[in-house]
Amino acid sequence: MAAVPGVEVRPFAAPEEMAQCEALYRRVFALRADEGSLNARLLIALARNSGIVVGAFAGDQLVGFAFSFLAQDPENGFPYQYSQTAAVLPDWQGCGVGRQLKLAQREVALGRGVRRMRWAFDPFKYRNAHFNLDVLGACASELA
Ligand SMILES: CC(C)(COP(=O)(O)OP(=O)(O)OC[C@H]1O[C@@H](n2cnc3c(N)ncnc32)[C@H](O)[C@@H]1OP(=O)(O)O)[C@@H](O)C(=O)NCCC(=O)NCCS
Repeated sequence: MAAVPGVEVRPFAAPEEMAQCEALYRRVFALRADEGSLNARLLIALARNSGIVVGAFAGDQLVGFAFSFLAQDPENGFPYQYSQTAAVLPDWQGCGVGRQLKLAQREVALGRGVRRMRWAFDPFKYRNAHFNLDVLGACASELA
């Protein structure tokens, strides 16, 4: 899949870069000021402790990010990354940024010897279902 012109997708180079994540997350999910959110401290802790946090940058501007944490299947012990969130700014959605973020997560996970990723999505959000099942080629395995 070709890179998105003008956008660099990569792991965060420094903790300070994650400062933009909360505002982006709040905007993408249209959270009210009194609604809880993620914060940079959580993402820094994840990135330092076997999680994967990747960002998409248009110059200095963060336009999307995704994060996951390391987990272990209780039945067979296999390690996997559980991807909690992928979020792309509305103006940048549909340009391939989300796909690049997921591919970047995949590359980092494989580099660590982790061959599985899992995540959840709302099947009634048909565009997300298409993104997960058709675009990314994920397999649905259980109802959460
Ligand atoms: C889901 C999301 C991360 C995908 O990122 P993206 O950059 O829009 O995705 P891409 O451009 O790489 O791929 C787009 C594909 O995803 C689908 N898609 C899902 N949601 C979409 C959206 N809101 N806008 C555009 N495309 C979307 C499209 O149908 C498209 O498929 P196509 O290329 O065959 O037409 C992004 O749209 C987003 O942040 N949505 C809101 C937050 C969200 O629901 N996150 C996922 C749950 S944590």
